[in-house]
Amino acid sequence: MSKIYFVFGIHKLWRKEISEFVERQGAESIHDPCAGSGYVNQLIFESLDKNLGAKFYLSDLMTDESPEFAKQINSLGYQDLKFAEESIDLLKIEASKQMPKMFVNSFHHFNNEQVKEILKNTLGQGKEILVLEYCRKTPDSLVSMLFGGVLSLLFFPFVVEKKFIIPSFIFTYLIPIIPFMLVWDGIVSCLRTHTISSLKQILVELNLTNVLIEKKTRRSLLYPSGVDSYFFKIENRK
Ligand SMILES: C[S@@+](CC[C@H](N)C(=O)[O-])C[C@H]1O[C@@H](n2cnc3c(N)ncnc32)[C@H](O)[C@@H]1O
Repeated sequence: MSKIYFVFGIHKLWRKEISEFVERQGAESIHDPCAGSGYVNQLIFESLDKNLGAKFYLSDLMTDESPEFAKQINSLGYQDLKFAEESIDLLKIEASKQMPKMFVNSFHHFNNEQVKEILKNTLGQGKEILVLEYCRKTPDSLVSMLFGGVLSLLFFPFVVEKKFIIPSFIFTYLIPIIPFMLVWDGIVSCLRTHTISSLKQILVELNLTNVLIEKKTRRSLLYPSGVDSYFFKIENRK
């Protein structure tokens, strides 16, 4: 899935919003607590203007089970892109260790109660949040997820790693489980995305009345349904 970002340049659609977020956080490192393989973060990092001085710290709950992802990112040798080599549960991070956060296609994994906890722990500590999602709960986005399966059939030879070529070929063309899973994952992800009104309601419940949500949608010819960003901005921040 991540390789599709590279082929379609989806990550570049977020570049403006990420740059603005990075600039506003000043010298602080930005934490992506659900980095997965870290590959999308790598693409984002490499596509940003170097003069911005962006510093990213990645972690994930599953790192103990798949340590190769963190090792691969750290082996790139970038001073300003580091991946924690142990599992970190976002929902258990202490208040004193909270950092500005960026979520890449992961915020929809959390239910309303968990989102409430995340917003309370991060915004409540004066740290801002940027949520990036490649889909949303709208007909155009749902239709574009259906194309995920077709794309996997068309682009399979360009995106698969050599060592996985035989099983990937079997499960893409002969027994098409991979296209089916891509479509299923895309549709479930769309349906799980949070709406601005539900997020605003959570902010009200938390009495975080000084937080604004700036939402942007960016589209391209290759990705017409577009990507979203939600910037949780703290007004009158010291
Ligand atoms: C859909 S993946 C997104 C991965 C990556 N950001 C990307 O775009 O490829 C969601 C990630 O969230 C992680 N995750 C889920 N719950 C978590 C938690 N409580 N703390 C930290 N990571 C969590 C999962 O392990 C998974 O890697």
